Amino acid sequence: MAVILDGKAVAEKIKTELKAQVEGLKTNGIHPSLAVVVVGDDAASRVYVNGKIRDCAQVGIQSWEYALPAQTTQQELLALVKKLNVDDEVSGLLVQLPLPAHFDEKAIIDAIDPNKDVDAFHPVNVGKIMIGDYDFLPCTPAGVMALLDAYGIDVTGKECVVIGRSNIVGKPQAMLLLHRSATVTICHSRTKDLKEVARRADVLVVAIGKAEFVTGDMIKEGAVVIDVGMNRRADGKLVGDVNFAEAEKLAGYITPVPGGVGVMTRAMLMKNTVQAAKRSASRR
Ligand code: GUN
Repeated sequence: MAVILDGKAVAEKIKTELKAQVEGLKTNGIHPSLAVVVVGDDAASRVYVNGKIRDCAQVGIQSWEYALPAQTTQQELLALVKKLNVDDEVSGLLVQLPLPAHFDEKAIIDAIDPNKDVDAFHPVNVGKIMIGDYDFLPCTPAGVMALLDAYGIDVTGKECVVIGRSNIVGKPQAMLLLHRSATVTICHSRTKDLKEVARRADVLVVAIGKAEFVTGDMIKEGAVVIDVGMNRRADGKLVGDVNFAEAEKLAGYITPVPGGVGVMTRAMLMKNTVQAAKRSASRR
């Protein structure tokens, strides 16, 4: 039976440490804060945003939620981003994705001040991640690394396979693993013999957004299995991209869904927001 990587417990510990740090910063006149912009009524986005606002309250970070109607225009959203960019009260800023179809998402991300880009989605921050010069670590991949660290799992020299090549998770995850001297393979929907490649993995990170896609026959015995997925099954159950019941019989370590990577992602957002406030103060 696999060891469960308890994201919830690790995230709570990180948030407790951040709370103490925030209290210290406040006594020095530095007040970390986060503006969260959400457009439309995507149910999953609502849940994520509510979680982020709750985390802010827990850590002592001031937050503002801008919930805009679905029919908001590109110009209106750009205007809000630009206003928040220059607002000295705002340390960090994020626009929840996905945006409704009529938006040019890339143009919105490009408009965010890289110094306030706590998601690390702006091309400047993506470039910095590539060369290992981090202002902000991308939240989900950073959450995965923090979880591995919390359990003393060293990836140096290990075969790490990332399934999924998104800009938000797969690509930056591969970079963070590479910077820790792992041997990294990125797989995706066009990969030949995906099963065989996955079975080579000492550490398997799955971020493809397909419910229970990874089955037991894709897992090497003793592997570390990290499930980034969050899918609603037809019967209403929340599941990851990994078939947990099959995988836990083979894996050495495995993340649950929920309570694994998702909560770690949110803790890393809080860390980036504190980082944004500190960096902003040092520039003043
Ligand atoms: N949608 C899904 N994950 C994320 C995230 O980490 N940040 C933002 N802004 N939108 C998301």
